[in-house]
Amino acid sequence: MNAPMPSRRNILCAIASSPLFLATRAKAGRKADFNAGLARDAGLLAFATAQAMEFAAPLSTSRGRLPADLTGVLWRNGPAEHERFGHRYGHWFDGDGMIQAFAFNGTGVTHRARILDTPKRRAESRAGRRNMPAFGTLPPNPAPILGPDDMNAANTSVLVHAGRVMALWEGGSALEVDPDTLAAKSFVAWREDLASLPFSAHPKREADGTVWNLGSPLSPRPMLLIYRIDAAGRLAAFNHIPVSPLGMVHDFIVTAKHLVALLPPFVVTPERLASSTLSFLDAHQWQPEIGTRVLTIDKNTLQVVRRHELPAGFHFHHGNGWEERDGTIQLDLCQAPNPDFVIRDFRAPMRGDLHFPSANPRYRRVALPPVGPARIEDAAPGASEFPRIDPRRTGLRHRKLFALNGPHEGTNWKLRRVVWLDLDGGAGDGWTYPPHQVPEEHIFVPRREAEGDGWLLGPFLDTRRGASGLNVFDAMHLADGPLWQGELPYPLPYALHGTFAAS
Ligand SMILES: [Fe+2]
Repeated sequence: MNAPMPSRRNILCAIASSPLFLATRAKAGRKADFNAGLARDAGLLAFATAQAMEFAAPLSTSRGRLPADLTGVLWRNGPAEHERFGHRYGHWFDGDGMIQAFAFNGTGVTHRARILDTPKRRAESRAGRRNMPAFGTLPPNPAPILGPDDMNAANTSVLVHAGRVMALWEGGSALEVDPDTLAAKSFVAWREDLASLPFSAHPKREADGTVWNLGSPLSPRPMLLIYRIDAAGRLAAFNHIPVSPLGMVHDFIVTAKHLVALLPPFVVTPERLASSTLSFLDAHQWQPEIGTRVLTIDKNTLQVVRRHELPAGFHFHHGNGWEERDGTIQLDLCQAPNPDFVIRDFRAPMRGDLHFPSANPRYRRVALPPVGPARIEDAAPGASEFPRIDPRRTGLRHRKLFALNGPHEGTNWKLRRVVWLDLDGGAGDGWTYPPHQVPEEHIFVPRREAEGDGWLLGPFLDTRRGASGLNVFDAMHLADGPLWQGELPYPLPYALHGTFAAS
């Protein structure tokens, strides 16, 4: 006798209430080891825990003049509370998130930041210890997890849409944040039955205000979730697509007619996810024989309409994608040969070892023809990460990709040069940070009509001063160095992503 087919609502409820990430033996970091490392190498200050729950200060000008017509808020987010109750996380991506707002009023910039007191963090406050599983670390005697948001650290990016500011994670819901106090409010449910489902950290906004996003729940059944949010912030369409095996799906691209998701062969099995000895990261296995699967999804039906395959590789981030007249989809990404840098390198700084020996991601270009095999090739020399485009080119042919770039070789933090890359042939303009400054992702803000005519905003940590700062570049003239540079009186943990909301 056949079992009754579960309804879509039942499937989604099961995902939302499933004990997803129960345990790990992934080691915590050791505070003493970290402090010893910090005494040797000031660059580790980027991975130190935030020195306060809240920060607020004006930036003092150390170079140049601030453009008067650059007004709005640069929002940032990243793992910031790496240590709490004497417990230091073992992976960079574990720490509780800290949201930051750099407010530009035309004459100056003020900074505010606040650790997000999520339900996960509040539960640990009540327990008086770290007791929730994190991305790569499990604390001793972890509490049971009833749904993804029980361990949601809200530490990866920010979405500002339809009047709401939201802190994004990858494995759970968006967290609404009060834009004035920066206090955590509540998780966003795009529809009642979608509460607590993953809403990833790289949503894409089109010119008409439509926001697209993916989610990738892995248990009890792995699937891709597709969200279309309208300009008013309402869910306009949703679908779930079973995909097995599946692992983290961090980013995707949108074109005029399609969404494209590249699935690295870094995947989990239900058995490993349910294990009491593996972290969420450690539940993943590298299976290069699967290759990189490419799913092209129709934006109207939200169904998969094309499948391609590429050689195995691991990536977090795309820049953009677009469609040629013949239906070929072109896209770019920052791809490494394998996920070693996530598994190994991003754990090392948590125990005081600032070395990144793994092969870093290269900027690469992919062509997906309507018929025939997919192609992939290198598009720029060296290692590249944190790709950003002029947001007005989302889904359209882009010529400039802003990124952090550096040599592929070496074992230190390599991404010291801010560049724009030409998808058709390598590096364009760029500026290299001095050795005592560690740049974060740089975000483009449009000024005039032409692609790339605008500013590039980049926070950095100055290890010589032991404090953070912010650069504003003319994005058309990076080699000239910052137009303006501001200094903060305190250091900030290295943030991952953000967005600029103009005013
Ligand atoms: Fe990311």
